[in-house]
Amino acid sequence: PISARVADLLGRMTVDEKIGQLMMWDARGEDLSFVTDRLAGSLLHILGDKANRAMDLAATTRLGIPLLIGEDAIHGHSFWPGATIFPTQLALACSWNPALLEQVARVTAREVVPTGIHWTFSPVLCLSRDLRWGRTGETFGEDPWLIGELGAAMIRGYQGAGLADPEGILATAKHYAGYSETQGGRDASEADLSPRKLRSYFLPPFRRAVQAGAMSFMTGYQSIDGVPSTANRWLLTEVLKDEWGFRGVLVTDWDNVGRLVHEQQVCANRAEAAAVALKAGNDVVMVTPDFFDGAREALDRGLITQAHLDAPCARLLALKFAMGLFEQPRRADLAEAARRTGCAAHRAVNLDAARQSLVLLENDGLLPLDPGALRCIAVIGPNADDPLQQLGDWSLGSCQHPPEAGQHPRETITTVLDGLRQLAPPGLQVLHAPGCRITDEGTEGVAAAMAMAAQADVVVAVVGDHLSLVGETLSTATLELQGAQVALLDALAASGRPFVLVLINSKPLVLPRSAGQARAILQAFNPGMCGGQAVAEALFGQLNPSGRLAISMPVHVGQQPVFYSQVRGQHGHRYADLTQAPRWPFGHGLGYTRFAWQGARLDAGELAIGDPVTLRVTLRNVGERPGVEVVQAYVSDLVTSVTWVQRALKGCARVELAPGESREVVITLPPEAFMLVDARGREVIEPGDFEVQVGPSSREEDLIRLRLTLRRR
Ligand code: IFM
Repeated sequence: PISARVADLLGRMTVDEKIGQLMMWDARGEDLSFVTDRLAGSLLHILGDKANRAMDLAATTRLGIPLLIGEDAIHGHSFWPGATIFPTQLALACSWNPALLEQVARVTAREVVPTGIHWTFSPVLCLSRDLRWGRTGETFGEDPWLIGELGAAMIRGYQGAGLADPEGILATAKHYAGYSETQGGRDASEADLSPRKLRSYFLPPFRRAVQAGAMSFMTGYQSIDGVPSTANRWLLTEVLKDEWGFRGVLVTDWDNVGRLVHEQQVCANRAEAAAVALKAGNDVVMVTPDFFDGAREALDRGLITQAHLDAPCARLLALKFAMGLFEQPRRADLAEAARRTGCAAHRAVNLDAARQSLVLLENDGLLPLDPGALRCIAVIGPNADDPLQQLGDWSLGSCQHPPEAGQHPRETITTVLDGLRQLAPPGLQVLHAPGCRITDEGTEGVAAAMAMAAQADVVVAVVGDHLSLVGETLSTATLELQGAQVALLDALAASGRPFVLVLINSKPLVLPRSAGQARAILQAFNPGMCGGQAVAEALFGQLNPSGRLAISMPVHVGQQPVFYSQVRGQHGHRYADLTQAPRWPFGHGLGYTRFAWQGARLDAGELAIGDPVTLRVTLRNVGERPGVEVVQAYVSDLVTSVTWVQRALKGCARVELAPGESREVVITLPPEAFMLVDARGREVIEPGDFEVQVGPSSREEDLIRLRLTLRRR
């Protein structure tokens, strides 16, 4: 058994070999000496032949323990030129489709495996709160339940049939936990969270990840109430390992152990930092070269015992044994990588993902356009033809990548302009002018864009954000369109030309007043390599948009945070100068058909606590086109021992119907859908009256309310 093999190997390891095993090194440079000199256990940012070289070096060490190689394959194989780059997590979340997310992760694993990688640092299970946070686009949005379901699906997709699956890679649930609860949106600022608030909203997606079998977790950079994540024994050991039974490895974020000394200043030196990290329950230390000597010194000074090294080592070795790495090291196979990377089957999944991620926010009937009836379209705006913005963060060209890493080949990316040109019938002219840039205020391009707009029957304006304003350490103080984009939209609105707004941006932005003149607004977020095709299909009516917002979109930056599941009972729950309501709420999304909702009911109006609750509703497509509705089921506990959220999403179903077709949708809500966290931090279901609310968005007026009483057994 694996436990015997682990015990045997541990028994033969020196202290240096154990410490080395716990360390993950940044392998971007030419120097790989840490593999042999420091007896590295794992590496990141190394691919292909170079990864094979590192594996060969590891095989020459005294015990020849195989390396585990990790990478940020976040929405596709981010660092591999030509890889299938999907829409970003936030875009994908708008599909509300776990099956799709599982496929996306499976494709990613298939492309990652032959490049010599065993482990991806994905998915992100942080809850979006203050949208100024630069990593908002890396999340699945704002809802704990939806995040948990989509995250679980990606974990299944990455890990496949289990650790021994040679086509699977380890998934990482990150950043554990509360990292997104920033101050003013600033990355890695201290999170003001109580254990109760953590248990109520921030931890559930992570527990779901454990249930889904995630074999790795990553801690956050931030501290919670004075305790850095890396030092938080309650969070890392008591909750994750003891209470939830997590059996995988817990990796720190980049140099988190070093930060205990040089940033957070809760440890005086590297020995103390190593001891704190080990005692808290970290297993793998990402890129803290000083940990090697620090852990040695900690042992010499009696700050830790051998047991503090043995426990994390045992976990990591168990993983390596279970993956079969000792028998069959998983090496890069570049011929196989070339066959798989960006292949047609993977591109088809990507196109499907882009299609399902698009959210139609507004439409006065201008969409879908009839391309046969048009003579000329003007495509303006800085994001109309910018391949990098289309892919978004964590892709070649974004801030995480040195320029020498190259780019994804231009021909693999369909921008909105490309998509419209490809789909335009002969005779329809597609003109283009960027109009302005996002990175400076220059307005010199606006006039040319307006001259072009004047020739067109309809204008497609593609605006949004820029990679320089997005990502780790790149939060923004505002959410407004940057550069001269507002001037461009103002000019367009003043011109009177009919226009459609397409938003290509990492996270929700605040739109200027002139955007109100748009006849339709399509939110694409960063839609990936095939995004431009999906957008063009939606504009021309070949695709009926079906995405629903996984995140609320604000009216003004000052509304932060603006998520739907606010705790009720806030007297004066509004601003004196502004609405508290978002511009578009969580769950919102339009299409080109209409649905009638009929016969919504619960199978029983009174049940015992612990019984599942069955909700039924019949949907009929009463429009002229096939379309998808997303049935959303929310639970509202009417009287609670603590103040609690007005409603919380607990189930959903995507239903595709042909015109005239109807179907009964059945959603079963498990007992935990009715749970809350009481004043003592315990998860309880309190007897009494509830409402199950069902509808097409989280908006109060969209929901049908069904009464339910839960009594004690
Ligand atoms: O995985 C990432 C993490 O999300 C942020 N810091 C760096 C890690 C490794 O690249």
